[in-house]
Amino acid sequence: MVGLTLTSVSKRFGETRAVEAVDLSVADGEFLAVLGPSGCGKTTLLRLIAGFERLDQGTIHLGDLLASAPERHLPTEDRRIGIVFQSYALWPHMTVAGNVGYPLRVQKVRGSDYDRRVAAALQTVGLTGLEERRPAELSGGQRQRVALARCMVMEPRIVLLDEPLANLDVHLRAAMEDEFAEFHANTGATMVYITHDQAEAMTLADRIAVMDGGRLAQVAQPRDLYRKPENDMVAGFIGQGAIVPGHVSSLLRDGRCAATVLGRDFVLRCAPGQQPGAVRVCLRPEDLSLAPEGSIPGRAVRLTYKGGVTAVDIAPEADPEARLQLTLLDKRAPAKGEAVRLTLQDGWVIPAA
Ligand SMILES: Nc1ncnc2c1ncn2[C@@H]1O[C@H](COP(=O)(O)OP(=O)(O)OP(=O)(O)O)[C@@H](O)[C@H]1O
Ligand SMILES: [Mg+2]
Repeated sequence: MVGLTLTSVSKRFGETRAVEAVDLSVADGEFLAVLGPSGCGKTTLLRLIAGFERLDQGTIHLGDLLASAPERHLPTEDRRIGIVFQSYALWPHMTVAGNVGYPLRVQKVRGSDYDRRVAAALQTVGLTGLEERRPAELSGGQRQRVALARCMVMEPRIVLLDEPLANLDVHLRAAMEDEFAEFHANTGATMVYITHDQAEAMTLADRIAVMDGGRLAQVAQPRDLYRKPENDMVAGFIGQGAIVPGHVSSLLRDGRCAATVLGRDFVLRCAPGQQPGAVRVCLRPEDLSLAPEGSIPGRAVRLTYKGGVTAVDIAPEADPEARLQLTLLDKRAPAKGEAVRLTLQDGWVIPAA
C-alpha cells in the first residue's frame, strides 16, 4: 500500500465548484474519513482519486506516482485502487467466488494463482465457506463483504469506500464497523472512507477531513475535531452544542484565555496566538451543568428523550435567542419551562477565520 497526496485539486461541473483547491495527504496505512453535508463534493473527490473524473487543476499522487494533473490522466485500471460503493454492484448470476474473482478474470489471471487470490480475499472478509452462494442468498452485510473481497483481490494500493454501510440497518452497521476496523488492522490498507455519519467516522478513522462547499473545512483527529473546531462550520457540524458570542480579554498560559460569555467571566480554551476581542465560543453539552449556584440563569425550552438521558435546550437569560444544550440523566432533567442555573466548566474559542 502507499499514501496519497492531493495538491490544489479543483473540479468544476459547469458553474458548480464541486471540489475547490483541496490539499490533502493520506499516510501509507492511514484510515481517513471524509465527512460533510450532501453535495459538498465527497463523491467527486473520490472519483477524482479513482480516475473516473479528470481534474481541472492540481495534482494527485499515489505514492510517488503522478496519477492526475491537467495534462496527465492515468486510467482507472492502471491506478490499482480498490473501490467499494454503497450499492454493492454484484453480479446476481455469479456465485460469491465468481464475483470476487471477476476482476482477476478480466486481467486474465488464471489457474492456481487465481484460486489462491480468491481464497485469500474471501478469508480476509470472513466469507470462507460461502463461495458457491449467489448474492440473493446473502445478507446485506455479507454482500458488502463480497464487494470488499472483490476490491481486495486486486491487491490495491489504496482502498476507497463511498458510504459502504448506508444501505444497512443500525445493528448491521455497528457489526460492519467492527469488521472494517479489523480489516484495516489486518491489511494495513490506506483507506479513504466517505460517510455522512459522524459517529461512524469518529469510530473508524485515524483522521477526519470535513468538507464544505467543495473545500476542506478541517482535517484532524476525531478528538481535535470535536474539542478544537477551527471554524463555525466544523463546530456546528461535528457533535452537539452551541455557538455563542463572547469576548476574549486576555491570554493566559497553556492554551487558555480569560473571556466573557453570556455576561459572565470564564477561563476558556483557545488556539495559540488567539487575539483579544470579539469571538465565537463553542460550548459542548459536557461543558455545562445544572447547579443552584450556577452563574448563568436560563430556562429549559425543549426536552428530547434519548433513552436513559434527556437532551435539554436552555435559553440563557442574557441571550434568549441562543440555545445551550446539555444532556442529563432523566431524573435530573428539569421540566419544560422551568427556570434553571448553569455552570460552565469549559469552552473553546473558535479561531477567527
Ligand atoms: N456529473 C456531474 N455533473 C454536474 N454536476 C455534478 C456532477 N457530479 C456532481 N455534481 C455536483 O457537484 C457537487 C458535489 O457532488 P458530490 O456528488 O461530490 O457530493 P457528495 O458530497 O458526494 O454528496 P452526497 O452526500 O449527497 O453523496 C454537487 O453540487 C453536485 O450536484
Ligand atoms: Mg456522494
